[in-house]
Amino acid sequence: MMTEQALVDFKIERLPKSLQSTFRELYTNGNGHEDYLRPNEIYQGDARALLPKIEPNSIALSVWSPPYFVGKDYEAYLAFEDWQDLLATVIRLHFPIIRPGGFLVINIADILCFRDPDMPRVQAEAINKKRSPVTKEDVLQAMKEHPTYNRYQLAKLLGCSEQTIDRRLHGNNIRGGKYEPQTRVKIVGGLIENWGIEAGFYLYDRRIWVKDAAWENSRWASLSYRSVDESEYLYFFWKPGITKYDRGRLSPEEWIEWGSRGVWQFPSVRANDDHEAKFPLELPLRVIRLLTEPHDIVLDCFMGSGTTAIAAIQTGRQYIGIELEEKYVNLSQAKIESGVQMNLISEPGTEPYVG
Ligand SMILES: C[S@@+](CC[C@H](N)C(=O)[O-])C[C@H]1O[C@@H](n2cnc3c(N)ncnc32)[C@H](O)[C@@H]1O
Repeated sequence: MMTEQALVDFKIERLPKSLQSTFRELYTNGNGHEDYLRPNEIYQGDARALLPKIEPNSIALSVWSPPYFVGKDYEAYLAFEDWQDLLATVIRLHFPIIRPGGFLVINIADILCFRDPDMPRVQAEAINKKRSPVTKEDVLQAMKEHPTYNRYQLAKLLGCSEQTIDRRLHGNNIRGGKYEPQTRVKIVGGLIENWGIEAGFYLYDRRIWVKDAAWENSRWASLSYRSVDESEYLYFFWKPGITKYDRGRLSPEEWIEWGSRGVWQFPSVRANDDHEAKFPLELPLRVIRLLTEPHDIVLDCFMGSGTTAIAAIQTGRQYIGIELEEKYVNLSQAKIESGVQMNLISEPGTEPYVG
């Protein structure tokens, strides 16, 4: 619960009228849970079930990257409506637990290949493309010799595109063919903004992360005018309250290089060997250093491989993690333990590791 001092500093009457009753209820009653989730643990379960078990007004910063609705295995359980409901609900459940003046930072990307069954199926006319000499028999032979190869590996082996492999095998085009719905771009920023505002937050900032250009994932690039996937967003939501503003959190050079910059540039995680979609450590590290102080509690309710927990520990903050899949909970815990054992990171909540 809020300390007495924080309550004295924070005047509910200064908030917009629509928020006053929610705040009053939060500060006077709490949410009735005695057994709140403890810091420096990773909990397995659905974020929607576990977020209400976090102590109200206790989280300085929540930073996470949700399922993006791009066909990953861990989001296979979600239709587009479910995905929207998941994000809207998770954002709404954050308002009570973020402390006044604290932040919710969401890392997400637009959906570049959003299947739209209503989109007209017009075949691309490839003016400059020669027909590939690769035959169906070549593909079948290669499959026989390399039974574990996927479409992309077969294409590389035979020196053709993966569309050619698919057309030779099935007689259709992967995109825009007779059988598959067309894909278009779906902008997610407007949805996220609305869900944040409906929850009671204000959109405080937005930054762009420029990552590695994903040529390999850009199945459409060879047969359209579309660009490759090379950026994501960070939406900073603010909960009304006093926010401490400390220029000492970064060095003067860091303020110039990234603290005050709208565009951040650092590489993606290149080896997604143990998890399909990790963000690089640099991402939560920057957000945590900018928006929190040592010992603050940092939440990630889509914890994945544990990157945010590692960043929190490295900077002397505490963390709470939530993750749906047991295998990723185990992975995060193992990473934290081995990091601590190897002295790469210090124990959670102790002084930051300097190395
Ligand atoms: C984009 S990944 C996050 C990766 C993480 N930032 C990292 O660096 O490893 C999203 C994660 O959310 C998890 N997830 C999906 N639905 C969830 C839910 N309803 N509640 C909690 N976690 C969920 C997935 O299993 C996946 O690990």
